[in-house]
Amino acid sequence: MSDTRISRRRVLGIGGALGLIAAGGMSAAAAFSRRPAVTGAQLSSGLVLPPAFRTPLPLPSVLRPVSTAGGVDRYEITQREAAVELLPGVKTPMWTYDGTFPGPTIESRRGRPIVVNHRNELPVPTVVHLHGGRTPAEHDGYPTDFVLPAEWRVHAAHGGHTDPRAVQTFVQRAYEFPVDQRATMLWYHDHRMDFTAPAIWRGLAGIHFVRDDVEDALELPRGDHEVPLMIADRAFDADGRLAYPAVDPTLVHQPGVTSAYLAGVLGDVILVNGAPWPVHEVDTGVYRLRILNGSNARHYELEAVAEDGRRLPLIQIGSDQGLLAAPVRHDRLPLAPAERYDVLVDFGGLPIGSRARLANRLGSGRTGDVMQFHVVRQGAATPIPATLANDLPEWDRSAAAVVRDLAFRAGRMNGGHGWLIDGQPFDPSRTDVTARFGDVEVWRLVADVHHPIHLHLVGFRVLSRGGREPLAHDAGLKDTISLRPGESAEIITRFDGYRGRYLFHCHNAEHEDMGMMANLEIV
Ligand code: C2O
Ligand code: CU
Ligand code: CU
Repeated sequence: MSDTRISRRRVLGIGGALGLIAAGGMSAAAAFSRRPAVTGAQLSSGLVLPPAFRTPLPLPSVLRPVSTAGGVDRYEITQREAAVELLPGVKTPMWTYDGTFPGPTIESRRGRPIVVNHRNELPVPTVVHLHGGRTPAEHDGYPTDFVLPAEWRVHAAHGGHTDPRAVQTFVQRAYEFPVDQRATMLWYHDHRMDFTAPAIWRGLAGIHFVRDDVEDALELPRGDHEVPLMIADRAFDADGRLAYPAVDPTLVHQPGVTSAYLAGVLGDVILVNGAPWPVHEVDTGVYRLRILNGSNARHYELEAVAEDGRRLPLIQIGSDQGLLAAPVRHDRLPLAPAERYDVLVDFGGLPIGSRARLANRLGSGRTGDVMQFHVVRQGAATPIPATLANDLPEWDRSAAAVVRDLAFRAGRMNGGHGWLIDGQPFDPSRTDVTARFGDVEVWRLVADVHHPIHLHLVGFRVLSRGGREPLAHDAGLKDTISLRPGESAEIITRFDGYRGRYLFHCHNAEHEDMGMMANLEIV
């Protein structure tokens, strides 16, 4: 796959520095020095926003299986419209999994298969993808494998794509997950062709934990000392509805966002588990924070700061695809859309009654805050293990059967602006990468602006970033790597598990909808 030249004039249409980098007219070093903190444009809410650190942190309820017969846990989820109280006293109409945002959490165990039957009572087709799941292709939520609403007539939507390989069902679909994978935090979200970004924004996202014996053997904080944090920005209209600059707010016909938001949609409210800038009561023990960036386009750089200004170390024990070999201490932890981090925080040094803030150093004003911890009682000290997992794959560059170059850049698509991979927008009928089952491959990725690149099915290791050693937070097994403006990175993986049609794409959800996705066929 080769690099496609994009003429400078075309690209400059999307704006100054961004265009220059996209046109390749700038060295990586120069691009870094004028690296924007964010890629995207921020909406302003039309109502008075609540004060920070008053709303208690909600914890999404864990879904109970409807059956556990035959060694398989079966779940039922209904996708439906619901009015959800995100801001205190304000009802926000959303598209939900089972009426809540985030949707119910699923807890599964390595090696014990689950089936999730999704019922679509929404007015549009939906697709469910388990992000980070090692899932057979027919259950992976390919963007055209729609679950159609009962009353659906075939619209001339979806950019005129017809996909002969699509397997579509009416009203419901049973997604089967073998759960043959390392313990980690996954998330499930909508993946409908051309409309993923607004569907996630409206609420179609939930958490999924995989557990296993390796994790259980470690003395990690558990119970109420393990806290999921789905961080997602949103903005609200004056009437409490979610604001979103969709070209077609029905999300039926015309995909895409208005021109000011082509680089990504950012909200001015930071929600954690659906609550704005919440507060969570803790004791003086060690907490395990399971952090997911469920935002469409917003990047964060997290920092935990005590009232006296002291920084609490963020001790990373896991990445997208599970535990690291050993903990990594961070002062600040960058978090791109769809990335997950498993982090220990020790509140032991803090006086009872004091508070610590989780800040976002990439934000400004109110988006500079995420949430607060309020230390309310004495807790037991938990030791932090010196080593964690010893089952991480170690692929060597010399084992690679193929080395591929893939460029993630702005360009033209359907006569307008698009986000392209190697110069092409997504087309379900074109196979972009064919990988042989069992092969180790090295992919060299290069970006113009921020692009969090995600591979379905497999986890990968980061070999290099910007021609140098990976960064501290690149440790472990990843399924999403955040490329910064002008940056290149090398990743290595082995394509195994299942054969079939998968995807890789940018997880800036607006970029994903506007072309930046490609087919990965494992044969
Ligand atoms: Cu979160 Cu195609 O994935
Ligand atoms: Cu995915
Ligand atoms: Cu992107």
